[in-house]
Amino acid sequence: MEKLYEGKAKIISPSDDPKILLSQFKDDATAYNAQKRGTIAQKGEMNCRISGALFQMLEKQGIATHYIDEPAPGQMRIKAVTILPLEVVVRNIAAGSLCRQTGLEQGTVLPFPLVEFYYKNDELGDPLLTRDRILILNLSSLNQLEQLQSKALAINTHLKTFFSRCGITLVDFKLEFGLDAEQNLLLADEISPDTCRLWDQSQTDPKARVMDKDRFRQDLGDVETAYQEVQARILSQLETTSS
Ligand code: TMP
Repeated sequence: MEKLYEGKAKIISPSDDPKILLSQFKDDATAYNAQKRGTIAQKGEMNCRISGALFQMLEKQGIATHYIDEPAPGQMRIKAVTILPLEVVVRNIAAGSLCRQTGLEQGTVLPFPLVEFYYKNDELGDPLLTRDRILILNLSSLNQLEQLQSKALAINTHLKTFFSRCGITLVDFKLEFGLDAEQNLLLADEISPDTCRLWDQSQTDPKARVMDKDRFRQDLGDVETAYQEVQARILSQLETTSS
């Protein structure tokens, strides 16, 4: 199949319709700016199902996304967008780079959700940006930045509530947004255990509770089992709400 773009976790191909693209989710896993590489069996299919389910849930809550449908396992039809060069991270609980950079203890509940912007630039190692750096680098207008911030916070509210019903704590996550031909701002990329920190509420042990890519990053084992469990809980929660 012709490729438009191949990233670390997905291959994007054109379709007969220029407004629609096909995203093929891969089993490849990378961490620490691709210094650690591996594969997670069935990850592509699981992340596609999980992302598809979460995008549909968010659409129902009024959040516009690039999601269309899933023609086959591991494949998502998406609206063509130009991806903004920003990664938007929302944090509810301190973990990962926030702890490393600030000294906050892992697990500290933040007094309000922290929204951060990172520069999507592999050569620079995706650095943390400030509002003025974004404006100086022309990565976004102030108005668009404010829209990104409010959309990210709304998405956090919906995702936190949904995951909580699945017995999962949403610690933090990363979003990407894109603009379609009409300049509509759509939530894009994926929302999966690759891009979220998810802690099992039934576990107290800091290693046992991890249900996301930290299992791969930190060599905790049982990575596939954790992703399967996230998928099973999400799908069963959606069945409960739709019945
Ligand atoms: P961090 O603590 O490493 O900055 O990550 C914050 C969240 O963003 C975490 O849920 C993992 C996610 N993330 C990505 O999806 N892609 C990335 O390249 C990075 C650095 C983080």
